[in-house]
Amino acid sequence: MAEPMFAVDIAPDRSDIDAAIAKLCDSLPPLPSRLAEAIRYTLRGPGKRLRGMLVTTSYRAAGGGGDVSGLAAAVEMLHAYSLAHDDLPCMDDDEMRRGRATTHKACGVPATVVAGVAIIPLAARAAADAVGGMHRGAPRVAPIVATLMQAAGASGMIGGQLQDLIAENTPADSLEKLERIHRAKTGALMAASCKVGGMAADAPDTSVQALGSFGADLGLAFQIVDDVLDVTSSSAELGKTAGRDAELGKSTYPALLGVDGAMDRAIALARQGCRTLNEHNLLSQELRHLADLVITRTH
Ligand code: IPE
Ligand code: IPE
Ligand code: MG
Ligand code: MG
Ligand code: MG
Repeated sequence: MAEPMFAVDIAPDRSDIDAAIAKLCDSLPPLPSRLAEAIRYTLRGPGKRLRGMLVTTSYRAAGGGGDVSGLAAAVEMLHAYSLAHDDLPCMDDDEMRRGRATTHKACGVPATVVAGVAIIPLAARAAADAVGGMHRGAPRVAPIVATLMQAAGASGMIGGQLQDLIAENTPADSLEKLERIHRAKTGALMAASCKVGGMAADAPDTSVQALGSFGADLGLAFQIVDDVLDVTSSSAELGKTAGRDAELGKSTYPALLGVDGAMDRAIALARQGCRTLNEHNLLSQELRHLADLVITRTH
């Protein structure tokens, strides 16, 4: 797999998030060893940490000045569980993730199913502890945990995952339907990442909403580019199996709009998200940089 692509500007955030994830892995409650192994294997996988960095950069854009890496790590935990489950035989049935074996190939299907579900309350706890430990953070704990759980839940990420599976081998009849699926399965958690960054910084509601709108548009753009890279890139570059969407008969943007049409839509969405932030004086260099990376990334 190619090197992580955020090395230039936001590398310290990435290291802080990795350190927070490592700390959480080292302080798991006593668990059966197969379960602990599957949890650690899932969480320690070398991902890009984009969602975590949306938390840290949104937090700073909203005026936050503390260490929010524990909250960013909690978001990455939810994302990591979603990938382990996404790769299961009953979902996308994939063998390679983040440049190595998927969790179920390394740890077995039962441990992967249980580890994935177990990670959800661990992430809620991690978010609560992180926010509760911040200066005057206690009143923000409940709304932040609620925002994350809602985004990960039936009306967000996991509901979108089922819609994605149901749509297999039924050619997407409309762009609206595909957009709904992608906004739920991927956009919801990215929107929540930006929102909770703003909430942790005690930003006013209008700013939190603007950050959420940016994250939702960027999340859709991200999934469109993911669909495009599945067509145009290689397994070695992606660290996961390229061409899998076509094999599974997935509804995707390039299937509906072609690669160029899909990229045009992703670029327009990233611009729209940045415009929203700009209107609310929240468009930091860092957030603009992340928006650029989403549409120029190669893995
Ligand atoms: C992959 O997300 C799953 C999608 C929502 C497309 P990422 O490409 O952010 O995965 P990691 O975290 O870098 O492995
Ligand atoms: C995954 O979408 C979305 C979530 C895990 C919520 P994909 O199935 O396209 O992700 P990849 O391509 O396997 O990473
Ligand atoms: Mg999938
Ligand atoms: Mg998949
Ligand atoms: Mg994909």
